Amino acid sequence: MSGPDLRRAAAEVAVGLVTPGMRLGIGTGSTANVFVELLGERVRAGLDVVGVPTSEATRVAAEAAGIRLATLEEMPELDLTIDGADEIDAAMRLVKGGGGALLREKIVAFASHRMVVIADGAKRVDTLGAFPLPVEVNAFGLGSTRRAVAAALRACGCTGEIVLRARDGAPFVTDGGHHILDAHLGRIPDPEALSAALWAVPGVVEHGLFLGLATGAILAEARDGQAVVT
Ligand code: 5RP
Repeated sequence: MSGPDLRRAAAEVAVGLVTPGMRLGIGTGSTANVFVELLGERVRAGLDVVGVPTSEATRVAAEAAGIRLATLEEMPELDLTIDGADEIDAAMRLVKGGGGALLREKIVAFASHRMVVIADGAKRVDTLGAFPLPVEVNAFGLGSTRRAVAAALRACGCTGEIVLRARDGAPFVTDGGHHILDAHLGRIPDPEALSAALWAVPGVVEHGLFLGLATGAILAEARDGQAVVT
């Protein structure tokens, strides 16, 4: 039972939550991509839903799958968002943004009545922070913002390297035109305190701690060669 099988098992259960007429938030990443593929099959079979994608990559995939799309200007309130995660703890607090879409993902999740996470069960952790925490920052003032982010981390008991995310030898640019600092912390003792401290830094656009947003999780684990979804 491989990672792709587990992602598919979780996405299959998530598609079962979608009912006709729903206004959906559609997540980003490899697990969300499987959800898009399966949702597209149901749409082509006659299911009428409308979705708001959380990234340009998801917009392209959803359009290719035949899913009707809207913006949050046209449809500011959503019924359900289905999205992946990089880490999830027992309180359904998340680290997201491994794919760089955290800003739109958080805006869409916040606009939704429900946010259900779909993931390989390996994403379940006791303490958040082993996955590097993405912090989306404005390109202006990057050096100062980076210092202020480091100070905010230290004040919250977090230490570790802060790395400017790069792609093809250049700083990674998000859909919103910003950069990402990945904070390699190991553990985040107090996610709520860190969230507040990061938001207080001018230049920080958003961070990858999703607190109080997820209302459910569909996690698939391999047991005796079978995908077990909990
Ligand atoms: C993108 C995300 C993704 O949802 C997260 O990285 C999980 O991706 P995957 O399903 O590929 O493991 O937050 O910004």
